[in-house]
Amino acid sequence: MKLFIDSANIEEIKKVNEMGILGGITTNPTLVVKELIKQGVQKPEQKSLLKEICSIVSVDVLAEPVSSKWEDIVKEGMELAKISDKIVVKIPITEDGVRAVKELKKHNIKTALTLVFSLQQALISAIAGADYICPFVGRLEDIGENGLELIKNIVSVYKNYSFKTKVIVASVRNVNHIYSSALFGADAITVPFNVIRDMFKHDLTDKGIAKFISDWQQICK
Ligand code: E4P
Repeated sequence: MKLFIDSANIEEIKKVNEMGILGGITTNPTLVVKELIKQGVQKPEQKSLLKEICSIVSVDVLAEPVSSKWEDIVKEGMELAKISDKIVVKIPITEDGVRAVKELKKHNIKTALTLVFSLQQALISAIAGADYICPFVGRLEDIGENGLELIKNIVSVYKNYSFKTKVIVASVRNVNHIYSSALFGADAITVPFNVIRDMFKHDLTDKGIAKFISDWQQICK
């Protein structure tokens, strides 16, 4: 299972990359805008930030156009793809989105279909031949639905038909989402930086470290 970071923040990306555990990056317009505002950038364009991200990693970087008509998505996607061959164009699963996937594939540009909330949408995405899909677990739970069951079903249906599309579990809010997604056999999970940090935590690890140090210090007196 690959661990993606769900972030457009350079420091967070660098930290996870330097640990040697980074399997990919997902960005979206919300994450990019948050970063641009933090950096005090006035111009609403994502290219320079994505360029910087691509220069420090060697993994797929998912970047999202902000257009809704397929012709515009393709145009924007092609511009984004010029930044680096690490760019994967991430497109909301709509009729126009699927049409855009078809066009971008003709140019050998990798694609991801996002904002996937149902098995039907996941099926269309695989039939369309998207490289990735991003089903959103947390947002389904926000409306009282079972996001993890969706992941389980997508993985099982993709296996039934040997679909090549990779499942990146998205909208991850806690370590339980990661635990279950791994058990279900999802290809990847995209995780915010604070939740990646939570993955390291266990009381017994902290207690164990404290004991190793105090035992060692007994002969160092
Ligand atoms: C995935 O690609 C999205 O960027 C992300 O996981 C959305 O998560 P959210 O529901 O916490 O905004």
